[in-house]
Amino acid sequence: RERLDGRPCRQRLLVVANRLPVSAIRRGEDSWSLEISAGGLVSALLGVKEFEARWIGWAGVNVPDEVGQKALTKALAEKRCIPVFLDEEIVHQYYNGYCNNILWPLFHYLGLPQEDRLATTRSFQSQFAAYKKANQMFADVVNKHYEEGDVVWCHDYHLMFLPKCLKEYNIKMKVGWFLHTPFPSSEIHRTLPSRSELLRSVLAADLVGFHTYDYARHFVSACTRILGFEGTPEGVEDQGRLTRVAAFPIGIDSDRFIRALEATQVQDNIRELAERFKGRKVMLGVDRLDMIKGIPQKILAFEKFLEENPDWRDKVVLLQIAVPTRTDVPEYQKLTSQVHEIVGRINGRFGTLSAVPIHHLDRSLDFHALCALYAITDVALVTSLRDGMNLVSYEFVACQDTKKGVLILSEFAGAAQSLGAGAILVNPWNITEVAASIAQALNMPADEREKRHKHNFAHVTSHTAQEWAETFVSELNDTVVEAKLRTRQ
Ligand code: G6P
Repeated sequence: RERLDGRPCRQRLLVVANRLPVSAIRRGEDSWSLEISAGGLVSALLGVKEFEARWIGWAGVNVPDEVGQKALTKALAEKRCIPVFLDEEIVHQYYNGYCNNILWPLFHYLGLPQEDRLATTRSFQSQFAAYKKANQMFADVVNKHYEEGDVVWCHDYHLMFLPKCLKEYNIKMKVGWFLHTPFPSSEIHRTLPSRSELLRSVLAADLVGFHTYDYARHFVSACTRILGFEGTPEGVEDQGRLTRVAAFPIGIDSDRFIRALEATQVQDNIRELAERFKGRKVMLGVDRLDMIKGIPQKILAFEKFLEENPDWRDKVVLLQIAVPTRTDVPEYQKLTSQVHEIVGRINGRFGTLSAVPIHHLDRSLDFHALCALYAITDVALVTSLRDGMNLVSYEFVACQDTKKGVLILSEFAGAAQSLGAGAILVNPWNITEVAASIAQALNMPADEREKRHKHNFAHVTSHTAQEWAETFVSELNDTVVEAKLRTRQ
């Protein structure tokens, strides 16, 4: 797009994700209140000056009536957000079913649902049909708002069918697709009944991005082995049409965290927490309450550490923030009870009248409270069984320039590839190894902590979310040209 004076104007970026970056609460028939949720993606795009981002997605609420839909659309427009309205049945089949009960566990190597196999197989077709229908609904909204010269950036496993739907509307649309989860080995992906259709749909995009080189490699192998397409150093080629596939590791807006630590409110909070846990080392876990985060395994490893190190029992505390998520999916409900049971047992076993070893919170904390917690922590435990990237590890590092605490990090989190040299890497399934790493972290000499922190801090502050978004979009702009040239050859 060019202005009349020939200078390029800010390009419009249509960001399409299942969830809008706002939570909507209905206050009356035609009134809504909105709260911006400042996740990684939001802060990444807020910082990008070259683009004017608009969001398209589901507002996370069921709005069956026209009055409510109109009012919400109007309220969201002020935040540059455009809603896709999904009814309860679609949400149940597409979001709870196909996305969170099938794709999510599979992409994290937990396999297809094990229990009640027959029921799963029967519902699979209807869930996949709902998935495609929902993706088509997203495409309809994108198409309605698309203007020539816009760039469309689709996000995550919820929208693998979207690139194809968009290209069917308009082959010239510049479409990028980015996966925020791992992409599994092709041997895992091939167990999915709809494996080929999903791969083909994603390949309709001009640029396909992943957080790590390994995920990109797995995707290319799935396309070559399952579809018989050609894998090239640039991506996947089919009959002269190239889809670029590459790794774009995300980061955080580290300045936002570093600045927050200076706020009076956070400083006061830091003092209160330091007083509250005086004489004890603080270990911290911050996770969505999701099976991929390995929370039970982490807590069992902490129990083993207490068992083997009686001297530490009254000198250390584990604070576990477990943010409830996807609470309509039965697997998540089971996990909540399981975690409560383990925490209760360990606190009963090692607690005293004055203190318990584990403080477990089933809720999220506001941004400032979280920064204060990160800042007073001695050891952070990120023990995901698999995780696309895991930005909690980045946030912790950003808040630790004074304390220089230790990060224990799962080797199965994407972040292990960037923070591995500064963290203690663990296999989260090996509870004995994690327990030994806790001992190593708590006893680590100051000079070693400082050296490790310095490495990680340099990475976190130089590989920002903003840079990630800029790199992806500028590559998407270039890629389209490249793909066309290749097709002509
Ligand atoms: C992961 C996914 C995101 C998702 C988030 C929260 O990070 O990659 O796409 O939005 O979890 O999950 P939810 O189901 O609540 O949107």
